[in-house]
Amino acid sequence: MTDFSRYTVSIDYDRRLYQQDIAGSKAHAKMLAKQSIISQEDAAQITEGLASIEQEIRDEKFPWDPTLEDLHMNIESRLHQLIGAAAGRLHTARSRNDQVAVDLRLYTKGTIMDLVKGLRGVQAALIGLAEKHQGVVMPGYTHLQRAQPVLFPHHMLAYFEMFQRDIGRFQDCHKRTDVMPLGSGALAGVPYQTDREFLAAELGFSRISANSMDAVSDRDFVVEFLAAASVCMMHFSRMSEELILWSSGEFGFIRLSEEFTTGSSIMPQKINPDFAELARGKTGRVYGDLIGLLTTLKGLPLTYNRDMQEDKEGFFDAADTLTTTLDVFQAMLPGMQLNEERVSSLASESQMLATDLADYLVGKGMPFREAHGIMRQLSRYCDDENVSLQDLQLAEYQKLSDLFQDDVYDITAESSAAARDNPGGTAPNRVAAALLEAKKMLEAAGHGF
Ligand code: ARG
Repeated sequence: MTDFSRYTVSIDYDRRLYQQDIAGSKAHAKMLAKQSIISQEDAAQITEGLASIEQEIRDEKFPWDPTLEDLHMNIESRLHQLIGAAAGRLHTARSRNDQVAVDLRLYTKGTIMDLVKGLRGVQAALIGLAEKHQGVVMPGYTHLQRAQPVLFPHHMLAYFEMFQRDIGRFQDCHKRTDVMPLGSGALAGVPYQTDREFLAAELGFSRISANSMDAVSDRDFVVEFLAAASVCMMHFSRMSEELILWSSGEFGFIRLSEEFTTGSSIMPQKINPDFAELARGKTGRVYGDLIGLLTTLKGLPLTYNRDMQEDKEGFFDAADTLTTTLDVFQAMLPGMQLNEERVSSLASESQMLATDLADYLVGKGMPFREAHGIMRQLSRYCDDENVSLQDLQLAEYQKLSDLFQDDVYDITAESSAAARDNPGGTAPNRVAAALLEAKKMLEAAGHGF
């Protein structure tokens, strides 16, 4: 084969679809026989031949031949070698265009199931961390500046929510992937009385495609998959960024277990959070997979164009990247050590309580804007004098407002968190209820879909 013909070959990567391709062919042969389009004997031979091929592939004994370009041609040609003439009847009422569509849809559906399971595993790990550190107060941030105290479990449950939406996005994508395209032929349908509903039932699809031209052109489901994977990776990237910051000396909030860090080859003191960094880094390639396919598809006239063969590598890359990221986080999160003392002491630093002091004045009748202004002055003063709000004498408070009384010293990180007692807030009772809700949701989902 010339170097040029290599350009069209996809067997190096589309062979991953072999189980789906064989399942599709078996169902197709069964349907053809049921409809008396081929004989029962031919169908039986085809089915048997396909079963041996599947075994050969599994045993890594299959003679893959790049001159046959793709998976479909490799399997068909091998079927000829194994069973002779009957093999030639399998492709009746079918085209590689609807064949590859069914293969990729089956594979995508399976991948989504696995990813959802993995995401639930990560959610379970977050719940585990939240339960382990119930009641621990930590600094919450805006602009990466310490802002207000929050409960550590509240922070973990924020990620739980993100992953819950990711699951929803994948489930939604599954609905539109769950459509059976066989029977569309090359583009116009097939001139045989096929039974498409039977094929859908055999292959576990909920419905059949409505338009043959759309069915062989449509890769929206892959785009949606890649979009859902991109959002999900973005969430992992944000979490990674926090884990990286938190494990720095400057923060000193957490320690990741050794298995998920590496040392430096030159600096003996280093414990680098490489896994989190790589999750953050790999997010870029998943975005690339999405943009790549969107760009491939944007100029394509109906119906099938060979460009569409380019859908697979990016899809596999994104699926693999997300799958391993889920594996890593499920294993890494439970081993994360939280420095409870450090996070609580930072959460208790008085500047974190400035909003609560403003709310204190509001409680005594002052309009919030005015209270905010007073606390702004006091915070600046504390910064300049290098003292904390708690160090100020009552007289110093009262210089700005005589609404300040002794009970101003009762305001703590804990009381600040406890005051946020509304749905979605960080008060311990709210967080405990949210945690329970999250656990229930996860248990109800079980390992199903
Ligand atoms: N390898 C091809 C792909 O993945 C299969 C479909 C080929 N169809 C065709 N008419 N050449 O898109």
